[in-house]
Amino acid sequence: MTRTEPTLFGLVDRFENRKTDTVTFKGKMGLPIHRWYRLTPSFSPMLALDIAEHFELGGSDYVLDPFSGVGTVPLCLKYKGIPSCSIELNPYLHFVSAVKTKTFTDLCTLSRCFDSFIQLISEEAKGLTDEKRATDYLAAHAAFIPPIHKPERWWSRPNLAQLVAIRRTMLGLEDTGGHIDLLRLGILSILVPVSNAKHNHVSLTFAHEPLAAVDIVGLLRQKLDELIDDLDCMRDRPCSDVTVYAGNSKAVDRVLPRSPKVSAVITSPPYPNRFSYARETRPHLFFFEFIENAKSVGCLETEAIGGTWGKATSVLMHGVEPVNDIVGGLLAPFTANVNGNGQLMANYVMKYFNNIFEHAEGISKVCRKHAKLAYVIGNSKFYDHPLPSDEILASIFEYFGFSLDGISKMRRRQSKSGLYEAVVFMSR
Ligand SMILES: C[S@@+](CC[C@H](N)C(=O)[O-])C[C@H]1O[C@@H](n2cnc3c(N)ncnc32)[C@H](O)[C@@H]1O
Repeated sequence: MTRTEPTLFGLVDRFENRKTDTVTFKGKMGLPIHRWYRLTPSFSPMLALDIAEHFELGGSDYVLDPFSGVGTVPLCLKYKGIPSCSIELNPYLHFVSAVKTKTFTDLCTLSRCFDSFIQLISEEAKGLTDEKRATDYLAAHAAFIPPIHKPERWWSRPNLAQLVAIRRTMLGLEDTGGHIDLLRLGILSILVPVSNAKHNHVSLTFAHEPLAAVDIVGLLRQKLDELIDDLDCMRDRPCSDVTVYAGNSKAVDRVLPRSPKVSAVITSPPYPNRFSYARETRPHLFFFEFIENAKSVGCLETEAIGGTWGKATSVLMHGVEPVNDIVGGLLAPFTANVNGNGQLMANYVMKYFNNIFEHAEGISKVCRKHAKLAYVIGNSKFYDHPLPSDEILASIFEYFGFSLDGISKMRRRQSKSGLYEAVVFMSR
């Protein structure tokens, strides 16, 4: 591929200049099941469905999303009758994808399980919105405080005490048909709304004023009702098989079983923009011990593509060489510009595309002949130097035998910044 090819942009018009809710997480907030958990950098179900339709996918296809996030792609395809699988590295996001795509039919038992939990927790958390009682409760049950660094920074004392009551109560429950997982998902989805963190930016930030006491049991009740309503509304829809694998998409071929071969990939890898999925999901990772300790969070971040936080940054300080001349050559114009100002940034970008190279190699091993690929990715800027991530990604895949069918620029990310999100369409 040469970057000046006249056909590079605009081949697939339907994907150009899309409205925000057809590209971003905003498009899922009113949709059953999709709305259960907000991940700001997740994409819109409308986008996944439009791509599936554009690829003319059906029941004989097998679709892979190697960067599952909260499971948008497999969940959409499940109710379209298109078999699919996905892979996710972050154990908490893997859990969200797996629970959202699971089929629950016995809604009566589920409802009873939720009711009895609410009854138990109402007793346990009684009076804990009071500061003094919350303080005493926390002192008495310190062993149940989630092992996150500085929990009192995340939650005001009454809110933390109620969450501790929930953790204690959960320990005594017996599972019936995976219903505990749904309960856990309901609890996890309210952790940030009752915290001192705010969602007004793509990354979580702490509000100036901590959030006052909230009736967490009441909020949880509402959330559990929402889960049941959504499952009820989808219960008679025909659906296809979904498998969500826990694993690392740097080596897709080692995660997936040998067959069947993938006929399409619809995905959005992390963008090279230093966003940290491990950092954003810390409250959830620690609440139900999806992860052991801070050290494990650092390891998760280092294994992630585009990981940048804590230990992942120290790794970059030692310098990063291109895995080969292909990656080195593609990044040379960019690193030449950035090196002077920020060796660390140049190393970050090099590690990112070294990982994308490994990923593309794995994808080439699991895809059928004529497979179709759609990669949703945003470009970046470092020290005012643009990084054409979409074009570099396409060139890497080209090395592994995929041809570029078009890059559709869907949406500007900040007006006048030159940043945008695009879909890179490729095929074998
Ligand atoms: C842009 S998000 C995908 C969002 C997804 N399309 C959705 O709608 O929820 C990228 C995801 O890739 C995951 N990820 C990062 N590195 C990974 C790796 N090496 N293997 C598998 N998943 C990885 C992140 O944890 C994150 O969930």
